[in-house]
Amino acid sequence: MNSNLSDLLLRWYDRHGRTLPWRVKGGAHPDPYIILVSEIMLQQTTVKTVIPYFERFIKRFPTIRDLAAAPLEEVYLYWQGLGYYTRARSLHATAQTIVDRFGCVFPQNKSDILKLKGIGEYTVASFLALAFNQPETVIDGNVIRIICRLYHLTEPVEKIMPQIREKAAALTSRDHAADYASAIMDLGAVICTPKAPQCLLCPWKGFCLSQGLKELEQLPNRSKTAKKNKSGYVYIIRNRQGEIFIRKRTEKGLLSGLYEFPWDDEKPLFSEYSPQDTGLGVSHIFTHINLSLKIHTLQTEDVFPGGEFVAPENLCRYPFSTLMKKVYQKFLNKKTN
Ligand code: ADE
Repeated sequence: MNSNLSDLLLRWYDRHGRTLPWRVKGGAHPDPYIILVSEIMLQQTTVKTVIPYFERFIKRFPTIRDLAAAPLEEVYLYWQGLGYYTRARSLHATAQTIVDRFGCVFPQNKSDILKLKGIGEYTVASFLALAFNQPETVIDGNVIRIICRLYHLTEPVEKIMPQIREKAAALTSRDHAADYASAIMDLGAVICTPKAPQCLLCPWKGFCLSQGLKELEQLPNRSKTAKKNKSGYVYIIRNRQGEIFIRKRTEKGLLSGLYEFPWDDEKPLFSEYSPQDTGLGVSHIFTHINLSLKIHTLQTEDVFPGGEFVAPENLCRYPFSTLMKKVYQKFLNKKTN
């Protein structure tokens, strides 16, 4: 039965699987570096968002040697806007480890790969399946949704993870692991979508225990955790020459390693400089928080610790988060209005 389901999925994938820039059909990808970069980019980010970033990144860093030899700051530049910036730092560190410690030959066993930065249980499985055709079971949000629906598992996901894992593993193709991993990702992305799944086009129709049921879209059963709302202040600080103060965030935590205009998500800063309220604000949604910042400006010749004044035309040389780009764009729009 399981091999029947996996054959049906593989046949569907042959005809309908997506063409993606990091994908080959019919077996493992010949270049594990392509799989490493794409799988790390695809952690927490959609395929549509990743494609242009991946293409620019691979053009600039076509091999693991190119990436390992590049300065981290430049890697951040190619990552800016993609979010979750620790991924860029981890990928860079992993490239250096593979070049320096493994002589550019990718390890092919779980325990060595798990020691690399930025690679957890999910990525090790997808990497081994896609790069080396090893029969590893990929378990992400898509796969959890598919398994819960296929077997009509209605209990909270946290409670039944072992069961989900076991069922997903039993379905995994032994002989066509790379194609199977891509196929199940496509099934989740294109057919078994969270809302309005395309059950009539599903290769597993007739086998799915949830098909036609009203509560299909409610599966998987996940408790929803509310995002926290936070609000704070961000400061565009200029000196007499019109240069703008920026500083680098630490290499730990939210937006680590990127540059910023000083901001705080709770209290006002620089009150001794009497900042002006521009009346402008930006909002940004992170994984666990909705953040709103009010944009203030101030002028001073003081250089605050950990930062520097930069001419506006040179800001593009520094990696900024999408949040900071929004702040600067709002500020510029107001100035030109
Ligand atoms: N999500 C995670 N990895 C993926 C891949 N290789 N292709 C499509 N979506 C993915």
